[in-house]
Amino acid sequence: MTAAAVRPFEEDDLPGAASALVEVHRSDGYPVEGVEDPRAWVRSDGVVAAWVAEAEGRIVGHVAVMRPQGEDAVSIWIEQSGDDLSGIAVLARLFVVQFARKYALGRTLTEAAMAYGRDHGLRLVLDVMSKDTAAIRLYERLGWRKIGETAHTFGSGQTITALCYVAPA
Ligand SMILES: CC(C)(COP(=O)(O)OP(=O)(O)OC[C@H]1O[C@@H](n2cnc3c(N)ncnc32)[C@H](O)[C@@H]1OP(=O)(O)O)[C@@H](O)C(=O)NCCC(=O)NCCS
Repeated sequence: MTAAAVRPFEEDDLPGAASALVEVHRSDGYPVEGVEDPRAWVRSDGVVAAWVAEAEGRIVGHVAVMRPQGEDAVSIWIEQSGDDLSGIAVLARLFVVQFARKYALGRTLTEAAMAYGRDHGLRLVLDVMSKDTAAIRLYERLGWRKIGETAHTFGSGQTITALCYVAPA
């Protein structure tokens, strides 16, 4: 793979990020909800900051920091820590297409989001489906701590186990 880089998301990245998402959904079933409108899913209202990974002249990865939107990890963390909702943000929409994996792009994207959280006084939390084992290994390697386990409901009443994590302080 040619030189890869992680940088802040720019509006022109939207089509490339949406295509990468469709590819990841096909290979990994992420996100479980499906990708009916991939552009809207990438660029949803809750996004406060986002980054992309670029390689081979295209977008191959993405991550976002988002305002809380009812994630289980948020309520669990508030209950455990007593933190105020205003001091919490959610790491979400992390994906790297298959051919670009295992080059530390997932780690670099996650570290960019974590640095943003630190710089803005936001404690990051996330929900991850228990089936997404590469992501779970990545978060744990970077010091994220499991704070709970829930049943994530999607589609027409299907459920899947989700794990909730908090970033290191
Ligand atoms: C999770 C995900 C983003 C990781 O992306 P990635 O770019 O492969 O991540 P990294 O390269 O940082 O780490 C992946 C593995 O490569 C290894 N690696 C990193 N650089 C390496 C290198 N230069 N040489 C060899 N191995 C390397 C890491 O140690 C890690 O090993 P592990 O799988 O045994 O834990 C990717 O697998 C993905 O998109 N999955 C589907 C979507 C998903 O689950 N998203 C999570 C939503 S919560």
